[in-house]
Parts: sequence; structure tokens; C-alpha cells
Amino acid sequence: MKESRPSYFSMKPRVLSGIQPTGSLHIGNYLGALKNWVRMQYDYECVFCIVDLHAITLYQDPKELKQKIEQTAAIFLAAGIDPKVSSVVVQSTVKEHAELCWLLTCTTPIGWLERMTQFKDKSSKQESISDGLLQYPVLMAADILLYKANAVPVGEDQMQHLELTRDIAQRFNAMYGETFVMPETKLPTVGARVMGLDDPTKKMSKSETNPGHAISLLDEPSVIRKKIMRATTDSNPQVDLETAGPGVLNLLSIHQAFTGWTDEQVKQHFQGLRYGDLKKTVAEAVVAGLEPIQQRYLQIMAEPGYLQGVLREAAERVRPFAAETVRLVKDRMGIYTD
Ligand code: TYM
Repeated sequence: MKESRPSYFSMKPRVLSGIQPTGSLHIGNYLGALKNWVRMQYDYECVFCIVDLHAITLYQDPKELKQKIEQTAAIFLAAGIDPKVSSVVVQSTVKEHAELCWLLTCTTPIGWLERMTQFKDKSSKQESISDGLLQYPVLMAADILLYKANAVPVGEDQMQHLELTRDIAQRFNAMYGETFVMPETKLPTVGARVMGLDDPTKKMSKSETNPGHAISLLDEPSVIRKKIMRATTDSNPQVDLETAGPGVLNLLSIHQAFTGWTDEQVKQHFQGLRYGDLKKTVAEAVVAGLEPIQQRYLQIMAEPGYLQGVLREAAERVRPFAAETVRLVKDRMGIYTD
């Protein structure tokens, strides 16, 4: 079957990425993913998903989840995603994500899924594990392969899932003939793994409950300053780039990711600086970086119907392409297509 290319998708290479609408989006999500999305959106044809079907692999309060989906979409736009050039899509509103997931579930060996470190980590914290939690990476592969994405901008923690996506694509192609494009992982140069402020040996995470752990993108400036001033460093009194521990290195890379400073600028400015001054400088960079995002977020949320319109239009725009991929996959597998 010939691949048709609905007019919306140009000949530009394609990008797909997503964020779960759970907890509060934090600076790790911003520096690891969102900031890169904004940078890439004019060079690629982009689909950015609010992955609500992934969110429900762990129990979510239904009322809260509905609000979080819209809030997450508003943050995408507030961070600089331009809805005129990028498609901001709620995953569940394009049913082909779930449909392709099922088709790929049937070609994915279960052992591949049981080996995923995020599955092992998340399932070890649950009394009862849903089948969805095990299938989580297959749904992620479906998100990516549905749009034949060439590049997937994510943080470092998603690398294993991206490798699995390529394995799933390769296996399908070997079984049924060339169908899927191999997606490339795109990590940011700085900020690919932002660590917790309270414990810099742990990745900054939405599910961590300690209030000093993460900086939410919507934290007030006073809260941001307080959290950074309390961040764990080490027993040195001042910055020494040769011997700096993970806490100091984390603060430096947060600063560098927000400001875009070169390594040389970082060295010149911070070497020998006392930790109190380091923290003040980092806090001001984060406050300045988040302020415009927070202002735009409030404007977007105050405009009745705007967000819903953006989401509806984007879903309509991408559906024909998604439907075409599923049709092709079904055809390759010998499933009845009308
Ligand atoms: P999620 O919602 O956990 O995270 C969203 C994005 O933020 C990045 N990230 C980080 N980057 C740097 N430092 C951190 N501490 C940090 N924490 C999170 C993640 O790497 C991710 O890029 N499975 C995905 C969602 C997903 C997806 C997809 C991503 C579903 N389908 C298809 C890409 C393509 C997830 O849970 O992201």
C-alpha cells in the first residue's frame, strides 16, 4: 500500500514527544524536554502529546486528571510551543495511539518489557501491578511510530524506552516488511538529567513528595529561592569545579541550561564562589527563566475556550496521518481494513 501524505505533514522530518499529565511539571521536564521542543519546532513537523493514557497506568484521581491534562497543555504553550506550527495533542483523543499499541503488543516479546528499569522500579512500589504498567513502553512506541517520527526529544531517563521502540520497529519490519521509520533519541546538551535538590543522587521526579525536591514550573519566585537556598551541596565552603560533588554540579548545570552560558563562562564566574552566592545566582536565573512562562500560563488559562480549541484543531490535523499508519500496519498484518 502506498503511503499517502496528508497535506498537513510537509516533507520536513518529524518529531514526536510527550509528557504525562501527572503531578506538577518541574524544571527537569522543562530542561530535559520542553525547552528542546521549543527550539526544534521550526525545523521539524512536531506533534507534542499530553499522554493521558500513560498516566492511567497508575491510579489517578479522575477529576484531578482532567484538570492536569489542560494545565499540562497550557504549560506547553506557555513555554513557547507555537500551536500554529506544532500540534499539541491529548493522546486519548486520537484513538489510533491505543489501536497501534494493541497491534504492537502482539509482536513484542514480554521479556523485553519485564526488563525495563522503569517497570521494575515502578512495579516494586505497587501492591498490585496493572497490565498497563507492563505495556507502558509499547504505548510509547506506538506514539512515536504512529507519526513515523524521525527524532524524539526527551531527557536521559527515556533512553531505554527509545531503544525498545527501535527494537519493536525493527522486529515489526522484519516480520511484515519495511513499515516503520527508526526514531533517533535527541537529548539536550545540558539538563538531560536534572537531579533532586534535596538528594542530588536521585533524578528530579514528579512523584517525589518532599517539598524541597523539585522546582515546579509554576512555583512562585519566593518558593524557588527558598528551595534553591536549601539545596543539598557538600562540605566544601566554595565552588571548586575539580572536586565539586553532585549537588553543586546539579546547580551549575541548572544555571547553564537556563542561561545558555558556555563552560568557560561558568568556570570564570563560579570557580571559588561561596555556596551562598552560587545559590543566589542560580535562583535568580531560574526565576528569570520561569517568569515569562508563568505569565503566559495565567493568560492562557484565563482565556475561555482557547486551549480547548487548540487541542481540538491539533487532533483533527493529525488524525488522517495516524489513521493512514494504522491502516498500513493492519494491511501488512493481514487484518481486515474497510
Ligand atoms: P515524563 O512525563 O516522565 O517526563 C516528560 C519528559 O521530561 C523528561 N524528564 C527529565 N529530564 C531531565 N531531568 C529530569 N529529572 C527529568 N524528569 C523527566 C523526560 O525524559 C521526558 O522527556 N514516558 C514518557 C512520556 C511519553 C513519551 C512518549 C515521551 C509517552 N509517550 C513518546 C517521548 C515520546 C514520560 O513518562 O515522560
